Amino acid sequence: MRLVLLGAPGSGKGTQATRLRDHFKVPHISTGDLLRAAVAAGTPLGLKAKAVMDAGCLVSDDIVLSMLEERLHHPDADNGFILDGYPRNLAQASALDALLARLEQPMDVAVQIDVNPELLVERIAGRAKLEGRADDSPDAVRHRLHVYADQTAPVVDYYRELGRLRCVDGVGSMDEVLARILAAIAAAK
Ligand code: AP5
Repeated sequence: MRLVLLGAPGSGKGTQATRLRDHFKVPHISTGDLLRAAVAAGTPLGLKAKAVMDAGCLVSDDIVLSMLEERLHHPDADNGFILDGYPRNLAQASALDALLARLEQPMDVAVQIDVNPELLVERIAGRAKLEGRADDSPDAVRHRLHVYADQTAPVVDYYRELGRLRCVDGVGSMDEVLARILAAIAAAK
């Protein structure tokens, strides 16, 4: 299974990616998690990315692509992956197509998780209380939602035009949303 999960901040990509990883037995690759690990480790890349992430902006395409490429070369990704948080703009979508073509691992399907903006804000506010993620502050969240609408929403249209997109309703229990995603994947085969 080679799956791209799309959706606004707080739509449940990370939550569902973990479940899909267990279901399909392929790794969950989150560019946000890779970047947060680099920040926590204090690597040069992490130091560069931190301020950009805290403000809710996108880290440069080059940095994220090289991190992703390195991760996809790990042997555990040979049989597929659940990709979460990439691509975030049209340039990244083209770069991903080229990378997967080089690796001879074309993606199977992109699944968009739809959640209304009020609920996104509510979910992120709930997580902020529990986890204190730096980019979950109200200002950063507002900016992340703006970046999503401006730069990432066109990626959804890109996959739709290629006939590779499935959309699911992301409102409901985590189990309900997982069942919808699995049904969407099955329908895409
Ligand atoms: P990233 O880590 O990708 O964050 P995001 O896309 O903003 O997504 P979130 O992690 O906020 O939400 P999610 O959709 O995963 O939802 P979750 O499952 O956590 O990116 C962070 C930053 O890194 C970016 O802003 C950027 O700076 C940088 N970055 C990352 N990738 C990049 C790239 N490709 N290019 C450039 N920069 C990049 O759920 C949210 C909450 O809701 C949780 O508390 C969860 O428990 C709850 N929840 C989930 N589902 C349900 C449900 N069904 N019912 C009730 N609660 C639910």
